[in-house]
Amino acid sequence: MNISIVGTGYMGLVTGTCFADLGANVICVDTDRQKVNRLIFGSIPIYEPGLEKAITTNVNEGRLRFVSDFAKGFADVDYVFCAIDTTPDKDGSTDLAPIYDIARVFGQSINQPCTFVLKSTVPVGTAQQVIEIIGQEMADRKCDLHFDVVSNPDFITEGNAIKDFMKPDRIVIGTEAESAVEAMRRLYHTILRHNEYHVIYTDTRTAEMIKYAATSMLATRVSFMNEIANLCELVGADINTVRHGVGTDSRIGPKYIFPGCGYGGTLFPQDIKDLIKIGQSNGCEMKVLEAVDNVNVRQKHILFEKLKQHFGDNLKDKTVTLWGLSFKPETDDMREAPSIVTLNQLTEAGCNIRVYDPVAMNATKLRWDQVYCGIDMYDAVKGADALLILTEWRQFRIPAWDRVKSLMRTPLVIDGRNIYDPAELEQMGFTYRCIGR
Ligand SMILES: NC(=O)c1ccc[n+]([C@@H]2O[C@H](COP(=O)([O-])OP(=O)(O)OC[C@H]3O[C@@H](n4cnc5c(N)ncnc54)[C@H](O)[C@@H]3O)[C@@H](O)[C@H]2O)c1
Repeated sequence: MNISIVGTGYMGLVTGTCFADLGANVICVDTDRQKVNRLIFGSIPIYEPGLEKAITTNVNEGRLRFVSDFAKGFADVDYVFCAIDTTPDKDGSTDLAPIYDIARVFGQSINQPCTFVLKSTVPVGTAQQVIEIIGQEMADRKCDLHFDVVSNPDFITEGNAIKDFMKPDRIVIGTEAESAVEAMRRLYHTILRHNEYHVIYTDTRTAEMIKYAATSMLATRVSFMNEIANLCELVGADINTVRHGVGTDSRIGPKYIFPGCGYGGTLFPQDIKDLIKIGQSNGCEMKVLEAVDNVNVRQKHILFEKLKQHFGDNLKDKTVTLWGLSFKPETDDMREAPSIVTLNQLTEAGCNIRVYDPVAMNATKLRWDQVYCGIDMYDAVKGADALLILTEWRQFRIPAWDRVKSLMRTPLVIDGRNIYDPAELEQMGFTYRCIGR
């Protein structure tokens, strides 16, 4: 089985590597030549647990290759996966031109029957447009090779992506063609054999909508709990116990109800905005999602607000340490991370900023050159007036508090992920602030 993956980002690289790991011949195509060259020379551009080892093994065994030339990427393949990122247009709607360009090249280049699989998150109706574009290109070159288009949205989560790919909760296959159903069954049959979960066969539009609805539901839970947490603080209730009381309800469940300093990454913020836009262009106001987005924007300011509540408005020359920069643990992805908002606010306030993150410091160095990147988490707290927790990396969970306290100038901890016990920290002489407790 020969598979081409277009786009070697978090999703494309994981998808391509996992298919290679299952024995397929995979060629990954990306327009970013620098990234492709790095991959060819064995340098992995992102951090994802287990990915580097899997890439090395599959490259060495000849099942995984990287190219920047589409002509090479689309020859002799059975499937082309479109896994590129999309960006908003000037009016805020998704710019689909790059996806349609890939569909055009597909129509111009395939030399055998092939299935075009849309993995990127795209507005409802995109797959139908892709079918038309490919059909037109094939007609123009008088080619009657069979092709199918499938919407196969992705639900992997960064930090757990390989496991999510190999053991997904469900696989959604959106297509109107029986031949495509067969092609997708062949493709996923190894995963289907070893795991018990649902495969959902549906039409392309419904598949596209499932992706947006699932992401939006998760983001809604997070923003809802953040709002409840903020209220808990004002009325003297404890959000941790509230969360427990809510999450043990079998109708609700315990996931995605942890309060914090806001969600980030590309998925939640982007998908929510896309769905609001899709609603608008269809005359349907998405009031819940607008509120979810607004609450999240506000929540990203909460750590800075707490800092001001402690020190007053003038924070100039205060030394502030951030533990965690990525939008969640086990990834180096800082896109839309709450840390970006906090770093900008601290910079504007004239603070000295010290940071530590196990894998996401390179991006920070490039963007905020005045920020000091610690050698380790303890080096980062030297002389700090406040320690802010932005990402709940495992290594931050049980720090040597006596060491932290002796290194800080003022023992103030503002915990944006609620990972510590307030009583314990206060007993050790810290002033401890968190979310909703
Ligand atoms: N990151 C995730 O965990 C995740 C999960 C589910 C769905 N998705 C969806 O998958 C898509 C990709 O997300 P990502 O996080 O992997 O993005 P990314 O930004 O990490 O990677 C995208 C890659 O596509 C490449 N690219 C862009 N335009 C291209 C083109 N025209 N031709 C070839 N390559 C091109 C870029 O150079 C980049 O390497 C998005 O639609 C996203 O919503 C992502």
